[in-house]
Formats: sequence, C-alpha cells, structure tokens
Amino acid sequence: TDAFTYDPGFTSTASCQSKLTYIDGDQGVLLHRGYPIGELAEQSSFMEVAYLLLNGELPSQGELDGFSRTITRHTMVHEQLATFFRGFRRDAHPMAIMCGVVGALSAFYHDSTDIRDPQQRTIASHRLIAKMPTLAAMAYKYSVGQPFLYPDNSLSYTGNFLRMTFGVPAEPYEVNPAVERAMDRIFILHADHEQNASTSTVRLAGSSGANPFACIAAGIACLWGPAHGGANEAALNMLREIGTPDRIPEFIARAKDKNDPFRLMGFGHRVYKNYDPRATVMQKTVREVFDALKVNDPLFETALRLEEIALNDEYFVEKKLFPNVDFYSGVILSAIGFPTSMFTVLFALARTVGWVAQWNEMITDPDQKIGRPRQLYTGPTQRTFVPVGER
Ligand code: CMC
Repeated sequence: TDAFTYDPGFTSTASCQSKLTYIDGDQGVLLHRGYPIGELAEQSSFMEVAYLLLNGELPSQGELDGFSRTITRHTMVHEQLATFFRGFRRDAHPMAIMCGVVGALSAFYHDSTDIRDPQQRTIASHRLIAKMPTLAAMAYKYSVGQPFLYPDNSLSYTGNFLRMTFGVPAEPYEVNPAVERAMDRIFILHADHEQNASTSTVRLAGSSGANPFACIAAGIACLWGPAHGGANEAALNMLREIGTPDRIPEFIARAKDKNDPFRLMGFGHRVYKNYDPRATVMQKTVREVFDALKVNDPLFETALRLEEIALNDEYFVEKKLFPNVDFYSGVILSAIGFPTSMFTVLFALARTVGWVAQWNEMITDPDQKIGRPRQLYTGPTQRTFVPVGER
C-alpha cells in the first residue's frame, strides 16, 4: 500500500508553484521575475531587487523611494533585544546567535504574527528585511567586544549595515562607495535561489501556520550547514589551507578520492551543471574591491588557479562541477574586513528577502497545504513487546 515515490534529497520533486525565480541549470541561467541576475547585479540595487521579488515588478522611482522609507522605518530593534544578545558567550558563532535572536523576534513583535491578516504579513516582512542588517551587525559587534551602533537612516540599506558593523561611536565613519556597491551586489547575488534547502525549510515551517519570524529562524538554521550557506566560510578556510598554487594538485587529488570525505568547497551545485552565473559576477567584483581598497590577497590567485585546474580536470568535467556563488565571495568579504564566521550571516541577511517573498507566495497560494512528505518504511515488521526483565 505504501506506493510513494522515493526521492531522497527531492531531486525530482516540485514542492510548489512559484513565480519568483527561474533557474536553467544546464545553461547557467538565473532570472528573478524574468530579469537576468547579471543585469540586476550590474544595474540594480538590493532594495530594488527586494521590491521586485516581493511585488513582481520593478518599482518606479517613487515606489522605490517609498519602499526604502518603509524599510528604513523598521531598522531599529527593540531595546530589550540587546539584553538577549548579552546572554551569549562572546565567542559564540554569529550564526548561533542569529538562530536565537531572529527566532526571538516573534516574542518582540506580537502585533505582526497573525499570518491570516495581510497587513500583519506585510509589516512582518518589512520588519524582517529591515532588522536583519541591525541584528547581523550586533552579532559582529558582540563578538569583538565593541558597543552596538544604532542605525543611521540617512544612509542606504547597505551603507547603514557597513557603518553599524565597522563604525565606532568615537569616530565618524565614512562608507567607501566602492565597498558599499560591492556589498550591495553580493546581497543581490544571494537574494533568492528558488527551492534550495533553506527556502524549502522556510516554506515547510510556514506551511503549518507558524509565524514568519519563527520560519525565517528555521531557514537560518538550515542555511548554516557547510553544504549550503556555510560553504562560503568553508571555501575561504579551504583556500587558506591550500595557501599557495603549488599545493593545489594535492587538494584536487583529495577531492577526487572517494575514500576521502574532502570536497572542493565552493564547487558543484545541485541545479547548475554549468558555470553558476552568480560566480561570474562575483569573480569580477573581487577585482573591483581589491582596486578600491588597494589590497591584493594572494588567495585570489590561488582561487583562480584552482578553478582553472579543476575545469580542465576530467573528474570535474565529467561530473559537471563548476565554481558556485560561494567560491569567490569569501575573498571579497575578507578584503572588506569580515571574519569568516560572519560570511554565512551575510548570506542569511540577503536571503531573508527571498525567504520572505517565498513565504508570502506560499501563504497566498490557494493550493497551499501543510507540507507532509511520506516515507518508505524499512524498519521491523510488527512484533510483540517483551518486558525488560525477559530481554
Ligand atoms: N568536490 C568534489 N566532488 C564533488 C563535489 C565537490 N565540491 N561536489 C560534488 N562532487 C561529486 C560527488 O562526490 C558525487 O560523486 P559520485 O557521483 O562519484 O558519488 C557527484 O559529484 C555528485 O555530487 P552529489 O553530492 O551527489 O551532488 P548534490 O547535488 O547532492 O550536491 C552540493 C550538491 C552543492 C551539496 C555539492 O556539490 C557539494 O557538497 N559542494 C561543496 C559545498 C558547496 O560549495 N556548497 C555550496 C552550494 S551553492 C550555495 C548554496 O546554495 O548554498
């Protein structure tokens, strides 16, 4: 009777219908609401992409200004949240902190947790997008022992985040426009990616009617893993371990060895069997940031050489393994000054837009029902209980 399709990892199951994001993995195409990611990354802003994902169309100037003002209005977090932060150890991983504080938002914003009310859903969506930079910056500040900085709403979404992260109260902070642009572009590249593991987690959590803050916290937990959002941290750690290009062959050999669990981090993708279009933009952005900051991290050369060697290696060619979005992002983030432990937090900040848009789409989908996969049972058949003394 258990005639279910067995599909571990959901490689061939469409769990929903969606109008948000289209991926053609064979061609290396990624479209948000029909617009190619390359065009959005080059010509748009993160706020504009957020509006597009949430509303379906690009905004007019007036609509964009209005949306930015609305988001800006919600950048502060409840003062009591600072106390919540102080309960963590200073050396806590910032993703551990993010799982906790984002989950806690539903305890602070009771007036936007009724998912049946469209207005409350909108306010919760805006709050999540607006507060993520503040919370992410607080997680960083807490880890380095510096005071939290309040948002400065005269700055852009991304400029504000950079200031809250790297500014200190004692000195004025000048946002470097090239860094701000690069950061904004990194956010665009991470904004949404259809039904990846964390987005599916958000949808599954939301399908039970859980409030959006709790759902996004579930997404953050899923994103943390090294096979998903944790790959940017793992990729840079790997590049550091490799160090110089002469050691690349050793690591390539390890990646190909089926008895060695090592994988090239930042390589391979479930859907892309071609170059990840986000990696193309990311690679270009490395050079822009290096020029702007006048730095030259030799790890970039190592990364370029690693890519070149892998793309000419039979194993990687045959398995269609290409650099993904996370391969080059770590080099940029590190040049900007972020410690590796913050990389996945930045991914979570940007992906919040996608999660929120997907959650809204799900809630308003007439076909929506609780997500409840079945299984192929492989345990024992029915047997009789034996009391402990007789076993
Ligand atoms: N290095 C070496 N071999 C690999 C790699 C890699 N990075 N990725 C896949 N393979 C091999 C794998 O061993 C398997 O070989 P075989 O068929 O001989 O068993 C084959 O390629 C297919 O791999 P899979 O694990 O069955 O494929 P998947 O679709 O389940 O996994 C993936 C996709 C992204 C989890 C995987 O490629 C991986 O672990 N990559 C490294 C981690 C990473 O960079 N993740 C970031 C993904 S993009 C950002 C995001 O979405 O969060």
